[in-house]
Amino acid sequence: MKGVILHGGHGTRLRPLTHTGPKQLLPIANKPMSQYCIESLREAGVRDIVVIIGGIGANKVQEYYGSGEKFGVKLTYIQQDYPRGIAHAIRLCKEFIGNRKFLVFLGDNILKRNISDYAKDFQQSDAKASILLCKVTNPTQFGIADVKDGIIKKIMEKPENPPSNLAVTGIYFLTPVVFDIIDRLKPSERGELEITDALQMLLEEGHKITYHMVTDYWKDTGTPQDIVHANEVILKDMEPYFYGKKEEGASISGKVMIGENTTIKSGARIVGPLILGKNCVIGSGAYIGPNTSIGDDSNIAKCNIEDSIIMAGCTIDCDIKIRRSIISYNSEILQRKENGDNKVFLLGEGSKISL
Ligand code: G1P
Repeated sequence: MKGVILHGGHGTRLRPLTHTGPKQLLPIANKPMSQYCIESLREAGVRDIVVIIGGIGANKVQEYYGSGEKFGVKLTYIQQDYPRGIAHAIRLCKEFIGNRKFLVFLGDNILKRNISDYAKDFQQSDAKASILLCKVTNPTQFGIADVKDGIIKKIMEKPENPPSNLAVTGIYFLTPVVFDIIDRLKPSERGELEITDALQMLLEEGHKITYHMVTDYWKDTGTPQDIVHANEVILKDMEPYFYGKKEEGASISGKVMIGENTTIKSGARIVGPLILGKNCVIGSGAYIGPNTSIGDDSNIAKCNIEDSIIMAGCTIDCDIKIRRSIISYNSEILQRKENGDNKVFLLGEGSKISL
């Protein structure tokens, strides 16, 4: 089975984080979220993968993953000129897929469970498609399936009056018959070719679609708070390691993942679950608490941080509490006596500050 990873789109709800690159490269526990998809496909034995790229910073995807060799997969890239929908992106893969079954994974979906069983099941089945459904509390935000007695009756995109709370997750097991269907689709109200419309047309034309229920963690990381939450869940699940250096008088508790050459200075307090990248310095005035990820080469001299993502290359030396925040690469938060009560900001377009 071949794989398709969707890595395009505008990521508008994640601005300003997405002004410089695709949202699927935003780190969760110090790893781009799309890397979890690649690893999931690899574990399911899917190694020949096409990555659909497009939008701002699409080149960064290729720079990071390259040929895929480092990640144990073979990657091919296809450019989507404009975000015209999931079904449109899938249609771009027709030649790559040929006449075999395939698996599509949205690069912004985080699924904790391994997909190998689902993939095996689909390989052996005569269904034309298979989807993963997950119960949600906000069904107007997703594709929704109406299921009766174990049979999918209808699939619709973000219905105003959802017939169920079963969201169609962004992991689709498909067969090439879907290409012919997509050719006949009309754009939806949001101007996109919807995968849910393609699935519904498959049903209407008498094709069988099976499903599995996802009872583990699944998240479509559309908003900053989704990312902070996924970060917390992934950290809880990781195996601890410690390759750094702890000075005498530093306090470390809970489960921690500490990268090479990272120093926890005397007086610093860190409480897991958390991850610190490589080459970081955690100073004596720092408290870094649960559910926090700090990227490589960061220097946290003084600060009180919990439930947050600080990307690589940041410098923080400020007597404040940071909570549920995402701070992008190479940012600085400093406290300067000479500023008195004045705050000095240099923020990119669309920045958000809550004081
Ligand atoms: C897309 C699909 C939707 C699906 C969701 C899962 O929504 O259109 O059917 O439930 O992904 O992540 P979008 O993220 O484009 O709003």
